[in-house]
Amino acid sequence: MHQAAGQALDFDLTDPAVKANPYPVLARLRESQPIYWSTALKGWVLTRHADVKHVLVQPRQFSSVRIQPFLDHMRARGLDALAEVGESVTKWVVFTDPPYHTKLRPVLNQAFLPAIAGMGPFIRETVDTLLAKISDRDRFDLMEDFAVPLPTMVIVRMFGLPSGDAIRIKHWSDELASFIAGSRLDPQKAERSTHAIRAMRDYFTEAVRQRARHRGEDVISRMITFGEKAAVPFTEEEYVQTCTLLIFAGHETTTDLIGNGIYHLLRNPEQLALLRENPERIDGAIEELLRYDNPAACLVRVTLEDTAIGGQAIRKGERVFCMVLAANHDSAVFADAETLDLTRKARGSLSFGFGLHVCLGAPLARLEGRIAIPALLARFPNLKIATEDLIWRDAYVVRGITSLPVIAGARAAV
Ligand code: HEM
Repeated sequence: MHQAAGQALDFDLTDPAVKANPYPVLARLRESQPIYWSTALKGWVLTRHADVKHVLVQPRQFSSVRIQPFLDHMRARGLDALAEVGESVTKWVVFTDPPYHTKLRPVLNQAFLPAIAGMGPFIRETVDTLLAKISDRDRFDLMEDFAVPLPTMVIVRMFGLPSGDAIRIKHWSDELASFIAGSRLDPQKAERSTHAIRAMRDYFTEAVRQRARHRGEDVISRMITFGEKAAVPFTEEEYVQTCTLLIFAGHETTTDLIGNGIYHLLRNPEQLALLRENPERIDGAIEELLRYDNPAACLVRVTLEDTAIGGQAIRKGERVFCMVLAANHDSAVFADAETLDLTRKARGSLSFGFGLHVCLGAPLARLEGRIAIPALLARFPNLKIATEDLIWRDAYVVRGITSLPVIAGARAAV
């Protein structure tokens, strides 16, 4: 039986006010119904840090193979058109369990992680180029002009793809996002996602075939080199879908780290001043900004057997929504959790997940944030938010601002 008391709480993540600030409603849930049956989501919503972690460390009980249940849910709403997209993304490592995950992840670690360390100079150069383009503007859009292009350009470079392809790759990825992260799917979005996944499949099939013939130092070449050596060698389809995943995962969340991060710094002037005066605090600042308002808002799992969480029976096949946003604000782990405190010592934020699926790209995201945020603040010492009337992403699994108009103010000499 699902708790009837659940209806007492007005929990609607699609409500614009809740999207703008989901923390009060998540805090109420955590206090009164930490394991809450949402009729809208048709699943259990977990808001306590301990419960979220409990689920993430037990992949054999809480499966990441969650596309099929999602497609069933969509089909019930008449969105059969998404079947092709669903089929394609089932090979994404993030949607797999062992033993298949155990095949994919080590190859990704080998192909991707060593490539990150050398990206510093390119990230710096790209940040400088983007800043140069806006340096004489009185107003600009922090997202469109800075936070969106940077991670796309970085991941395109890591893949050894032509920089001129970044715009269309970004476009496909955005169209796909309405399937992966959208909260309100309609037939038009389904069609656009299908078109995007086909275009990406064609594009990366060509890139993989080209790298198979002529290896370079890029991530795709490295993936083929390590994928061939796997106990069960990778298929072409696996390379192609992994490229699609890395492109997708590699930029949206990092964009939101920069966007959400700058937004909260500008709204917390004493914290901003602290960082400006102590730039060496940037590493801790990135961790705290991620804890405070994380781009990965919610992680979904499907229960593989009847179980219980915090005394609440959960049936086999039911979906569990792990609210990272709420876990990261749990006062059982973080004192004064609702306050942005760049000097915070407490560790334990679940911003990059935990356990088996812990984020592959965390070192890259941190590196981009460490370079991009201080450079922007240094270039614009008087930056201000132009409006509080912001539109947050229409999604409950990711959290970010679609556009952040800012006033440049007097700027630093370069
Ligand atoms: C601030 C930026 C980022 C955040 C907040 C973030 C967050 C996360 C989270 C929470 C997970 C766990 C998903 C789950 O358990 O279901 C994850 C997984 C993953 N992330 Fe990230 N991520 C970020 C940037 C990146 C970047 C730059 C890449 C690189 C391409 C990346 C690639 C991945 C991949 C491949 C996985 C799946 C790992 C697996 O299933 O074993 N992420 N990320």
